[in-house]
Amino acid sequence: MTRPRWVSRTVFLFAAIGSAVGLGNVWRFPYLAGKYGGGAFLVPYAIALAIIGFPLLMLELAIGQKMQQGVVGSFRKLHPQFGGLGIFTLMTTFIVVSYYAVVMGWSLLYFLGSFDVKWSGDAQGYFFDRVLQLSDGVNSLGGINWVVLASLIAIWLSIYFCIWQGIKSVEKVVLYTVPVPIILLAVLLLRAMTLPGFLQGWALYLTPVWASLLDPEVWTAACSQVLYTLSLSCGIMVAYASYRKTEEDIVRDSWITTLADSGICLFSGLVVFAVLGYMAGQTDTPLTELAASGPGLAFVVFPKALSLMPLPWLFGALFFLMLLSLGIDSAFSLVEAINVSILDEKEHWQVSRVALGVCFAAFIAGTIYTTRAGLYFLDIIDHFLTSYNLLLTGIFEAILAGWIYGAEKLRRYINAVSHRQIGKWWNVSLKFVVPIVLVALLATQLSTDLRTPYEGYPTWALGIGWAIAIIPLVVLILLVFRDRQFDRLEESEQN
Ligand code: TRP
Repeated sequence: MTRPRWVSRTVFLFAAIGSAVGLGNVWRFPYLAGKYGGGAFLVPYAIALAIIGFPLLMLELAIGQKMQQGVVGSFRKLHPQFGGLGIFTLMTTFIVVSYYAVVMGWSLLYFLGSFDVKWSGDAQGYFFDRVLQLSDGVNSLGGINWVVLASLIAIWLSIYFCIWQGIKSVEKVVLYTVPVPIILLAVLLLRAMTLPGFLQGWALYLTPVWASLLDPEVWTAACSQVLYTLSLSCGIMVAYASYRKTEEDIVRDSWITTLADSGICLFSGLVVFAVLGYMAGQTDTPLTELAASGPGLAFVVFPKALSLMPLPWLFGALFFLMLLSLGIDSAFSLVEAINVSILDEKEHWQVSRVALGVCFAAFIAGTIYTTRAGLYFLDIIDHFLTSYNLLLTGIFEAILAGWIYGAEKLRRYINAVSHRQIGKWWNVSLKFVVPIVLVALLATQLSTDLRTPYEGYPTWALGIGWAIAIIPLVVLILLVFRDRQFDRLEESEQN
């Protein structure tokens, strides 16, 4: 069977940028920036982007494009024993999308709630008590929250219809889902810039706090944010690149994707901080406190700020529509990464059936987050996945490509197809910088988590988090071992 192709390079770029630009840009990036001292976060972030993000993105595009397979097949082509690394990666991807869709489900509920500004007055109560109906602790599940479940179903139906024909439908969808949120962000920015106090917000966002550079935690956050935002370590970029012709320019398209994604990060930071600056003035709350509100930023602080403006329903609706349109292409790219690898193995299976099966399975896996303890589970699982699984994939991927397959071989391929050449620095980056930095981060994270239980959750709940990090690792080891036996068998048969 001939492999489907993107209709044009622009459409590929739309899909890659659409995947990269997601909730991570608008929700996670600004709250990290706020937490780690505003402008100070931008410096480690830019450095992490240059030494980890960009080289890894180039690697993932190169692997997919050269091997013409999803992540399982591509890793296997790098070395026959490492198909299991692809499975390891996709296990993470599956779990990520199962909760990513839930966060989108909350956004949908907020969007619907915007028209009568349901959160004005008590934004905190609205989020925790009305929308989530959060239980007292992870120990009490509290049963399913049917409203959240219903919105999760709606989100999954939308995801399914974006990918039901594989890249043939993705191609059509990204033409809307990429520009629309950018336009909405621009509208929100113009609005925010006419509010009193927006400059104070920007001052906090853009003034460097150099001292925070000495905090190792800032660096961990910057590096994992870079993996997260560029959609690395999830098999997405490999899968998308595998639908390109083998001779397309990798260096240029890696640049475009990185710059577009970071541009939108910065841009959404400007929107968020301008609005926070306004809110600080209106409510007499210190700006730093608002900025450091963590994951509640998009669902508590921001809605509250919007409700203080004239036409609160309109800007509320625009903001949540922006979140939804921003998140949808990231969500379906995660599913596509899985589908592509399944279809590589089972060529005669129908694309729409595979899509249906994966969407359904991920929906079922996500129902745990629709219980009244859902937020706790989401918090724990997100913590372990981003601290361990994503880093592990990055480390293994860099070692597999850099040491086992050979960085130089890949660099030659990249240079042969690209207009601009990349220097030997890339080999050094892949073989040394990426693995060493990521191992260091992993070790720091591990020692923190072993010393202090994350957020004080009970042991059984954290056990789920550890299991999510460890089980895929065990599977990986078993698969590598099994494929080694196969290899030996084949060799002895040939002799
Ligand atoms: N890049 C997207 C974002 O920033 C989605 C995404 C890709 C993602 N890989 C991820 C989110 C891993 C969480 C974890 O939102």
